[in-house]
Amino acid sequence: MKKILIINGPNLNLLGKREPGVYGGQSFELYFEELVAAYPQVELAYFQSNSEGAIIDKIHEKGFSADGIVLNAGAYTHTSIAIADAIRSVTTPVIEVHISNVFKRETYRHHSYLSEACVGCIVGFGLKSYKLAIEAFVNN
Ligand code: DQA
Repeated sequence: MKKILIINGPNLNLLGKREPGVYGGQSFELYFEELVAAYPQVELAYFQSNSEGAIIDKIHEKGFSADGIVLNAGAYTHTSIAIADAIRSVTTPVIEVHISNVFKRETYRHHSYLSEACVGCIVGFGLKSYKLAIEAFVNN
């Protein structure tokens, strides 16, 4: 059974309430239940933190045993060399995801420190971005 971990960064605990015009009206907890039901052949886990260090610790903890990490680092995407280094430090491949199409938004969202360290990026498909990332790991 493949082990895939989804990590959500800052403010993503407020999905469903936070800027619904940008991020949609569904909470991640509910969406995660849908994912678990859709992929009975996958051991899916979910972690969210608003703290950069906690995200790094989780990447270190699971990054040598999980088969894939799906990471939405939120705004840390655009600021965190430390998270990029954590991704480079582990053996588990990481896919960067974003709910919104960051390239259609403010220019400060156009640059990601993480993309270079990731195997791929999925951007702009709403919550479906996570499903597409899981598909990439499962059909691989
Ligand atoms: C986001 C995009 C980031 O720019 C933003 O800071 C987020 C969410 C997304 O999923 O679209 O928090 O990562």
